[in-house]
Amino acid sequence: MTAPWSAGEEQQLLPVARSSDVVQVRQMIRTLAQQCRLSLVDQTKFITAASELARNTLVYGGGGTVRAGAVEKGVRRGVAAVFADEGPGIADVELAMTDGWTSGGGLGLGLSGTRRLVDEFDLVTEVGAGTTVTIIKWAR
Ligand SMILES: Nc1ncnc2c1ncn2[C@@H]1O[C@H](COP(=O)(O)OP(=O)(O)OP(=O)(O)O)[C@@H](O)[C@H]1O
Ligand SMILES: [Mg+2]
Repeated sequence: MTAPWSAGEEQQLLPVARSSDVVQVRQMIRTLAQQCRLSLVDQTKFITAASELARNTLVYGGGGTVRAGAVEKGVRRGVAAVFADEGPGIADVELAMTDGWTSGGGLGLGLSGTRRLVDEFDLVTEVGAGTTVTIIKWAR
């Protein structure tokens, strides 16, 4: 997936460098999800997905950024978020996406769970260069 936004659409950019940043990310995502008129259930799903990705950015990516904003595709409207880091990357994406697989002490449910919680999920990674995960939830 290339950047989900077209020219002229505004996004917000936040750092993900420490634990307290995850709280800010959740707040930003919550506000956007409300503004984009996601249902309460979908707001919660998107916030949960964003929290998991922010935590991965922090823990495995060594920190990075999240860019988020309203998104439009044809008649659909929704909210998109892009998590980017310049960490070690993921050598085996299929393995990393497997339920229960963790390289650390996690539950290994972050990536696989996130994919199920959103409408669009895209992971681009390169060993030694970093990881970028894009998620979108459409309003319905
Ligand atoms: N941004 C990232 N950079 C490098 N590796 C990552 C990144 N995100 C995930 N990974 C790798 O993918 C694995 C699976 O991630 P996932 O979020 O599914 O599980 P977890 O973080 O280990 O546990 P949980 O999220 O359930 O607490 C991680 O253990 C890590 O090895
Ligand atoms: Mg995780």
